[in-house]
Amino acid sequence: MQQEHVLEIRGLKITTLRGKKRVPLLDYVDLDIPRKSSFGIVGESGCGKSITANAVLGLLPYPLRVEEGSIRYADTKGEKDLLHLSKREMREIRGHEISMIFQEPMTSLDPIFPVEMQMYEAISFHHPGLSRREMYERSLDMLRRVNIPRPEETLKSYPHQLSGGQLQRIMIAIALINQPGLLLADEPTTALDVTIQAQILGLMNELKEQNDTAIVMITHDLGVIAETCEKVAVFYAGQIVEQADVVELFTHTAHPYTLGLLRAVTSLGGESRKLYAIPGIVPPGGQWQKGCRFADRCERCMPKCTEAMPELSEVAPGHICRCFLHTEEAEKR
Ligand SMILES: Nc1ncnc2c1ncn2[C@@H]1O[C@H](COP(=O)(O)OP(=O)(O)O)[C@@H](O)[C@H]1O
Ligand code: SF4
Ligand SMILES: [Mg+2]
Repeated sequence: MQQEHVLEIRGLKITTLRGKKRVPLLDYVDLDIPRKSSFGIVGESGCGKSITANAVLGLLPYPLRVEEGSIRYADTKGEKDLLHLSKREMREIRGHEISMIFQEPMTSLDPIFPVEMQMYEAISFHHPGLSRREMYERSLDMLRRVNIPRPEETLKSYPHQLSGGQLQRIMIAIALINQPGLLLADEPTTALDVTIQAQILGLMNELKEQNDTAIVMITHDLGVIAETCEKVAVFYAGQIVEQADVVELFTHTAHPYTLGLLRAVTSLGGESRKLYAIPGIVPPGGQWQKGCRFADRCERCMPKCTEAMPELSEVAPGHICRCFLHTEEAEKR
């Protein structure tokens, strides 16, 4: 593993059962997440973003499973092969070294306990020796850092007494309370209205500066990536189709799918533009056509696109793309 990476995914293949047959949902994905960076994963619904994140934390629901590949995590103490840990070792990593936040905070918070209990539980699981006073101070400090007004009161509140935006701030506070090396944020702002969404993204940027945590931001919206990320991988039908630094991706967009996503961007907080949607739909997992998986939706489709699968090739230093429009250029260079 390279020293500057906190996470390395190699050749990750995830399958599910259809009848008695195993069908692929994710097809040999490689990802490197640099330490303390903000990395975006973008693509429409059903492209394999969430299953990738869930695989990292050993949270794939049956009958999904990792078929091939490796996921390695490294902190200051050393490397870990996440696919070969015991349940106990994985529990110790979850919420401590790697945290995750989801679209719906209510699915992660327990409605019958006040916020304070849920924060203490997150702390005490990994730091059993702390006193109640210390846990209280640490929770209060964390709520202040995520800009919760009246944090003392909020600690005593139950989830149903708080708004969606406040709940998501609390989830972020819980996710960061043990200072993880990696935070996986799966559509953390999708359920929020645009103004609150912008506030939460602003908050995540601030926290990124203050902490040593790498953030993987998963979203269907390139606008969110533009606001928060340094690097981005574009997923389509279980594969990476383009990857680059964010500025490079936006200024030298190479893949027709990414161009479609760009046209569909909603401007955050500003005037909403007329919504564009790429015609057609993402093929269901495993039901991929021969050749380029985007071919049936692509305005630039050529005869060879339905014959052979384009490989990822470098179109500029650090910028890779899976499209025949660019493979010849890459070969020439
Ligand atoms: N529990 C599940 N059982 C069967 N198929 C699933 C399950 N979860 C996800 N999938 C399939 O895996 C593919 C990728 O899903 P997902 O990672 O959730 O997409 P995304 O997060 O990009 O919207 C989709 O085809 C989806 O239908
Ligand atoms: S390989 Fe062909 S079909 Fe696929 S994205 Fe490129 S031009 Fe479109
Ligand atoms: Mg998802």
